[in-house]
Amino acid sequence: MPTKSIAFANQKGGVGKTTTVISLAACLAEMGKRVLVIDFDPQANCTSGLGQEKLEGHSVYDALLNGQPLTPLVKPTPYPNLDLVPSEEDLAAAEVDVARVDNFLQRFQTAVAPVRTAGMYDFIFVDCPPSLGILTMNALVGVDRILIPLQCEYYALEGLTVILRLVEHLRSSGANPALEVEGILMTMFDSRTNLSHQVVEEVRKHFQEKVYRAIIPRTVRLSEAPSYGQPITHYDKHSAGATAYKSLAREFLKRQTAEAQAAAAAAETAPAATEPAPAAPPAAPA
Ligand SMILES: Nc1ncnc2c1ncn2[C@@H]1O[C@H](COP(=O)(O)OP(=O)(O)O)[C@@H](O)[C@H]1O
Ligand SMILES: [Mg+2]
Repeated sequence: MPTKSIAFANQKGGVGKTTTVISLAACLAEMGKRVLVIDFDPQANCTSGLGQEKLEGHSVYDALLNGQPLTPLVKPTPYPNLDLVPSEEDLAAAEVDVARVDNFLQRFQTAVAPVRTAGMYDFIFVDCPPSLGILTMNALVGVDRILIPLQCEYYALEGLTVILRLVEHLRSSGANPALEVEGILMTMFDSRTNLSHQVVEEVRKHFQEKVYRAIIPRTVRLSEAPSYGQPITHYDKHSAGATAYKSLAREFLKRQTAEAQAAAAAAETAPAATEPAPAAPPAAPA
């Protein structure tokens, strides 16, 4: 399977982007998939959530701005199969600095290309900042897919419409014609409130199978895990949060398999359609 890159994006902060990147990446790594997480947020929550230090000069900043390769920035984590390109505060300057350089929207696409073609990873996850600024746009131009974590709250659908409009724009403008939605994940679900149930129902009604069956509950353990610098699957592997992210990981991989099978079936039928028509039989002798 070629490397698949996915940006985890939503212009709202606090909806579970970083938690989902860390937790899903950790689950997939535990299942034997090779995952590279790229922290694209100057707040560096993904970096600290994986127990890594923020170090000056060790973010994607140089790769975006000076065209330096991404590969030397990749750091191993304590978790097998899981690597990280960390972030730090300096990345905030990229929002301003990258906007001034040529091809500013394609900067990440160029930087990540060698990592993709090396085939070292099954998945590259990009943890986007909570805005639709230059950094998020760069991520969205450079990836195959977007995964949208959506908090179970009243304005969820409005926020979703905004980000989907941007996806459509990136496609139609030619910035990333192949960009697709990988999935929509409902987060911070509180089973005791009617609102949570209503929001899930409403989002499912509009986006059907794009919405993962797995739903992430709001739990204290999930909110504690980052302060210990551990993914939930290590911090408390039997917790409801860990269980939810593990079932998301299984569903996520099932979708990959289904997609690969559909692609293989399409490839099998495609050449037949373009093959030249069989030559006409020789005319019968008169
Ligand atoms: N399902 C959850 N239940 C409880 N707290 C959560 C959950 N998901 C995330 N959090 C906490 O909520 C805050 C925001 O989550 P985060 O993943 O950082 O969101 P984002 O990256 O979208 O800003 C963090 O403190 C995080 O630990
Ligand atoms: Mg975040």
